[in-house]
Amino acid sequence: MEIIRIPKVMQETSRKFLREVKTIGFVPTMGALHEGHLSLVRRAKQDNHVAVVSIFVNPIQFGPTEDFERYPRDIEGDIEKLRKEDVDTIFMPDVSSMYPEGFSTYVEVVDISERLCGAFRPGHFKGVTTVVTKLLNIVKPKILYLGQKDYQQSVVIKRLLKDLDMDVDIVVCPTIREKDGLAMSSRNMYLDNEQRNAARIIYRCLIEASEIIKAGIKDGVYIKNIMFKKLKEEPLVSTIDYAGVYDPDTLVEINEIKKEILLAIALRIGNTRLIDNILLEINT
Ligand code: PAJ
Repeated sequence: MEIIRIPKVMQETSRKFLREVKTIGFVPTMGALHEGHLSLVRRAKQDNHVAVVSIFVNPIQFGPTEDFERYPRDIEGDIEKLRKEDVDTIFMPDVSSMYPEGFSTYVEVVDISERLCGAFRPGHFKGVTTVVTKLLNIVKPKILYLGQKDYQQSVVIKRLLKDLDMDVDIVVCPTIREKDGLAMSSRNMYLDNEQRNAARIIYRCLIEASEIIKAGIKDGVYIKNIMFKKLKEEPLVSTIDYAGVYDPDTLVEINEIKKEILLAIALRIGNTRLIDNILLEINT
């Protein structure tokens, strides 16, 4: 397993893979790897000759009051996990090699980046789409692997690839959960025991809403109100950014539920911001 830190060296390595007619599967991450990340890695290995994983805590996708400084970092542990998965290449650049002095080009997907998480994290998706564009230009994959856990991110990146004619396929893999349903996330490490228990409310709320919908309720606003009520019953939930029923393509809130819908929640427990979602197919 090769560990590369310099973007130019990664580009040369990828060019070599391509000359050898090897397909590259790429999993971008910010490290502190868990089974969610590893599920993407396994899929990338399965589908391609070569799997490349990047570990880069991207400063420009964090707001000034967000957790960039304290974001969990476990480079040694991550390398070990990726070695066990038999990953070919880890790309682990420094901030200064990704954003050297004079850096002034950003890539922004408008509209869908401003909805849901975008409304509460201004500039976040601009940071994501900029770094993903750079990473794709460096790694040159055939297929990009993302998790459904960050559903909006996958929609925004699909739009980016389409609008800029980027020749990359995208595979969105299912959300990997803890036994009690909590979606795995590097940020779960911030939770103490009590908060970790309280966090179960998120998936429970999604499931409860989906059951009500499956029982025939078609009113999106009614479902949203039920979700807020349920989440507010948990005293350790400090803020609810959003909860409700959304169109899975446009991410706009839905009043009348039909066909495919997205149920999504973003809230804070203490200072920790957690998100989760499920997609539902309605038979009408
Ligand atoms: P990060 O939060 O490290 O996530 C990397 C990838 O792992 C994302 O595609 C995310 O959706 C996926 N993932 C996280 N938790 C998951 C889970 N429980 N099940 C399945 N997949 C999961 O997302 C980012 O990093 C960054 O924004 C990045 C795309 C790397 C750009 O900086």
